[in-house]
Amino acid sequence: MRWRKWRKTVAAIGTMSRSSEPGNIVLVGFMGAGKSTVGAELARRAGMRLVDLDHLIARRRGRTIREIFEQEGEEVFRDYETAALDALGELNGAVIATGGGVVGRAENWLRMRRLGTVVYLQAGWETLRERVLGDPERPLAAAEVERVHRLWASRVPLYAQADLVVDSEGGSPAEVAGRIFLALEQGEHHGG
Ligand code: S3P
Repeated sequence: MRWRKWRKTVAAIGTMSRSSEPGNIVLVGFMGAGKSTVGAELARRAGMRLVDLDHLIARRRGRTIREIFEQEGEEVFRDYETAALDALGELNGAVIATGGGVVGRAENWLRMRRLGTVVYLQAGWETLRERVLGDPERPLAAAEVERVHRLWASRVPLYAQADLVVDSEGGSPAEVAGRIFLALEQGEHHGG
């Protein structure tokens, strides 16, 4: 295992470019890409803190994500999402798992880039569809399959704006976490 080396990589993220820049790892990707599970594994192995943006929103608002969607609608949820990114402020050395739709607002990208390195957890449509379709806790996955597919297709170019792209298929959460560290390491080697 190369976790010791990866831990060093994580430490290096904090000092990349300017030392004043926060060094977090921000995970983006469609629902079911594994942002929360891989994020938890990544944080555990590297001794970093995990911040799950959806959990933060639910805690701050005293409701589940589903309840927020039902009672206040998607736009209000999106406002809460942007506010939650703001609330992370000077966070450093954390893995941040975002919700699948965070990439839709340009202002969120400014905030995510300020927080650290944005990593896109990529998975194919068939895999994602199997993992999330009809999940009652995911309001946007409860729609008919064509709509969810259109949503996915419309977001792929947005996810691609991430600093790094990591394949989240065909491996355990620990393996995918390992791929993220390798990608970060290579990004550094290439001066990224
Ligand atoms: C959403 C994804 C969800 C959650 C909300 C909206 C989306 O998070 O933020 O239901 O727009 O794709 P996950 O990606 O963790 O399921």
